[in-house]
Amino acid sequence: MDKRFKSIIIPKWKINSAVKKAAKWVDNNYPANEDVVLIGLLKGCIPFYAKLMSYIKRDIETDFMVVSSYRGADRAQGLPNIVTDIKTDIKDKHIILVEDIIDSGYTVKYVMEFLKQRGYKSAKVVSLLNKTEKRKIQFEPDYYCFLVPDKFLVGFGLDYQEKFRNVPYIAELKRGDK
Ligand code: IMP
Ligand code: MG
Repeated sequence: MDKRFKSIIIPKWKINSAVKKAAKWVDNNYPANEDVVLIGLLKGCIPFYAKLMSYIKRDIETDFMVVSSYRGADRAQGLPNIVTDIKTDIKDKHIILVEDIIDSGYTVKYVMEFLKQRGYKSAKVVSLLNKTEKRKIQFEPDYYCFLVPDKFLVGFGLDYQEKFRNVPYIAELKRGDK
């Protein structure tokens, strides 16, 4: 066991097979002749996005957004902020937002509203993790790989102060580290 972590919540092999299933879900959900754009929310999406796209068999377009979410007490200061927008014209295309984790629900809901005026054909949200206990608004991803408890998790894209994104599994930080 890595001394930095209290426990491993989701091991690497489980992530791998769950992401394969998520890719199948993408392949089975859209007509072959229609455009699908996979939009990743940086930076947390990186490992999940990379694995997911590698298992998707149909044609997809790729793009990314940088969105800063205000966490904890800072949330009172404002809504999530779109730092970098996508460059792809999504009119009449299906978009899939790819997130690492949905917690309060604010971030993804805000991004969905932001992209709404661009005339996409459909919009869905795929998240690696779904943390439902502290949901602040009514929002559910269309697909998620794992339901997780209300613990502070790191690894496979999730960070604590920009560290641990490179850890290849999902772990809980040791108490006192945060
Ligand atoms: P929401 O707006 O509360 O749904 O927050 C979503 C964002 O908060 C995610 O994209 C993560 O960046 C971050 N987040 C939520 N829970 C955790 C966690 O347990 N560890 C690390 N980041 C988290
Ligand atoms: Mg994130």
